[in-house]
Amino acid sequence: MSRIDITLTVNGEPRELKVEPRDQLADVLRGPLMLTGTHVGCEHGVCGACTIEIDGAPARSCIAHAGSCDGATIRTIEGFGDDEIMRALREAFTREHALQCGYCTPGMLVVGRDVVRRLPDADEARVREEMSGNLCRCTGYRGIVRAIVSVIVARRHARREGACR
Ligand code: FES
Ligand code: FES
Repeated sequence: MSRIDITLTVNGEPRELKVEPRDQLADVLRGPLMLTGTHVGCEHGVCGACTIEIDGAPARSCIAHAGSCDGATIRTIEGFGDDEIMRALREAFTREHALQCGYCTPGMLVVGRDVVRRLPDADEARVREEMSGNLCRCTGYRGIVRAIVSVIVARRHARREGACR
């Protein structure tokens, strides 16, 4: 099968790649780009383990053709570095026992960060709803939801304190 040339910006770095039209982005990230923090579970868009950001929005990399992402800006779990929300979420996941095997965790963190960023006033029910597309076979979700809600609440308090100064 003939290969096509694509250019991606991945975690801030321009990358030029040759891919087959059928290649999924998850496989390109994990294979040639060696970004194995993106996990692959169901491989058909159901579990959310492979969630990354494409052009700033969460997306399932197991059902995104790499060829159709030509020119896109990609951020994987490795690319969040010192992002303030991600740092708070990592700490909260540890504190709230929000992972066991960790297989779902990269996808949970990417989606959880997006929820915290987009919905600063979300309550527990809304967080549950927003996270319902990410599956975890270990923890039973309580710790995951608790962790995300705790970050939202802490940021809300910080906002209020800032407004009162
Ligand atoms: S591996 Fe992509 S959604 Fe499950
Ligand atoms: S922690 Fe094991 S699948 Fe979620």
